[in-house]
Amino acid sequence: MTPDTQVAAGAARGTRMARRPLIAGNWKLWGTRTQAAEYCERLPGLLPDDPPADVAVCAPFTALELCVQKLHGAGVAVYAQNMHQEPTGAFTGEVSAEMLTELSVEGVVLGHSERRLYNCETDRALQDKVPRALEAGLQPILCVGESEDERERGETERKLRNQVQEGLERVADDRLESVVVAYEPIWAIGTGKVATPEIAQDAVAFIRALVGDRSREAAERVRILYGGSVKPDNAAEILAQPDVDGALVGGASLDPKGLAEIVAAAGR
Ligand code: PGA
Repeated sequence: MTPDTQVAAGAARGTRMARRPLIAGNWKLWGTRTQAAEYCERLPGLLPDDPPADVAVCAPFTALELCVQKLHGAGVAVYAQNMHQEPTGAFTGEVSAEMLTELSVEGVVLGHSERRLYNCETDRALQDKVPRALEAGLQPILCVGESEDERERGETERKLRNQVQEGLERVADDRLESVVVAYEPIWAIGTGKVATPEIAQDAVAFIRALVGDRSREAAERVRILYGGSVKPDNAAEILAQPDVDGALVGGASLDPKGLAEIVAAAGR
């Protein structure tokens, strides 16, 4: 951390109470309409009464409308896993922010490492996607994180700095607090190799400090999640870290009981 980011990190700490955790289940390439319907019928009954966190499921495009209908009034938001930055045009296979809000989708995952790796998602496109999602009234979750090689070479902070600064570059200072950032170390995604609570806390605090370089107030309010092999049995320890405001959960979220247990862990 630079001296400036250290000061900003210090200023932002200790205010976790003001930030309501978010637990988002990322289904990735899972969820036919039949599977999604069954899932959405089971999830609400498994969630704790008065959940200690906001809850969202990030479903494939084809299941979004059904999930919105099934989860209506259940206190579970439906998010998409990607969107295009343009409202319309010659972009075959893409979906716009308006197409999502028309379905009452409430948020969208942007810049997931799998999309960066397999679908040429770039920081440049994210510079447009993040503010576009906010303008449309969608909750963006901007994903950032280093690879195993980058961590071993001591380049974690450089990578996070680039991704966070670029992804948030075109978001006005007074809108920064409305973005959710997810720290997802690539080496922990789908590998069962969860980051230690200390690694998660340090990286998330660093990201908060980067937001603090733009706006102190935003740093205190912005929610920063951890993602990567979060399971019911390791969630409480990670979610107890002072700067970690929730989790983006892949594999374990495919079982609604698993997601519900992780939601409950946010209150412990
Ligand atoms: P995982 O995925 O929980 O299966 O590691 C997390 C994610 O990619 O969001």
